Amino acid sequence: MNDLERYFTDNTGRLIHKWWHYFEIYEQYLARYRGTHVVIVEFGVSQGGSLQMWKHYFGPNALIYGIDINPHCLRLAEPQIEIIIGDQSDRQFLSTLRTRIPHIDVLIDDGGHTMQQQLATFEELYPHVHANGLYICEDIHTSYWSSWGGGYRRSGTFIERIKQLIDSLHAWHSLDRKRFTIDMFTRSLHAVHVYDSVVVLEKRTVSRPYHRRTGTRTIPDYRPSVGIVQRLINAAHHGLRLLADRWRAMSGGAD
Ligand SMILES: C[S@@+](CC[C@H](N)C(=O)[O-])C[C@H]1O[C@@H](n2cnc3c(N)ncnc32)[C@H](O)[C@@H]1O
Repeated sequence: MNDLERYFTDNTGRLIHKWWHYFEIYEQYLARYRGTHVVIVEFGVSQGGSLQMWKHYFGPNALIYGIDINPHCLRLAEPQIEIIIGDQSDRQFLSTLRTRIPHIDVLIDDGGHTMQQQLATFEELYPHVHANGLYICEDIHTSYWSSWGGGYRRSGTFIERIKQLIDSLHAWHSLDRKRFTIDMFTRSLHAVHVYDSVVVLEKRTVSRPYHRRTGTRTIPDYRPSVGIVQRLINAAHHGLRLLADRWRAMSGGAD
């Protein structure tokens, strides 16, 4: 068990609600922030258990912000844990957060999980997350559920937006500069890690990729070419196919 799994399993304090397999993913991406002055923002406070888990995991220098629509959550504030009340689908509120929390290392969206909420939060706050930070969204399976605004391959869902980011990541290689251009995501996104129900967007300042060759060439390149014999065989096959088609047409379509 990793430290988060152990904390969660032994937790007798405030309620935490997470899918079990998230802890392995969290350990993989978050361990580097332990003991640092990290700023974590989690949308979705609920009973406050996950905020306390982050505080314990990241240590005494971490600052944790919990954002929730439920005003009762204000009671869950404590040293290192600040609670802000607001609606994550309200872009005006999200823009005030940019001023209130000027630096974010890790943003975790575990709020209401509707398409509108996930998309508004992503669009307003992804650019605000630090250039080497992480944007994480939980429970993205709601993109497949109609009551959350989702649907399989339905345009406008959060998962479809994530798929577009894979294109943005590759825009350096575009041969269609009109429709497929280098954008803010091409320049700011190092990786899109998609797991069951969670996506981890790993930010980094990205510059145009390059490739080089090193070492010495020792064998000639292989260029496949079709020889005369193969060309004759292909022509014969083609002729036979035409004859068979004509025969079928003349005999009324029967094989
Ligand atoms: C899944 S719970 C959060 C669980 C918590 N992070 C944990 O790990 O234990 C979802 C929370 O999102 C909050 N929420 C729902 N809609 C919201 C919205 N539009 N804006 C902000 N928070 C919202 C709910 O009040 C609820 O507390």
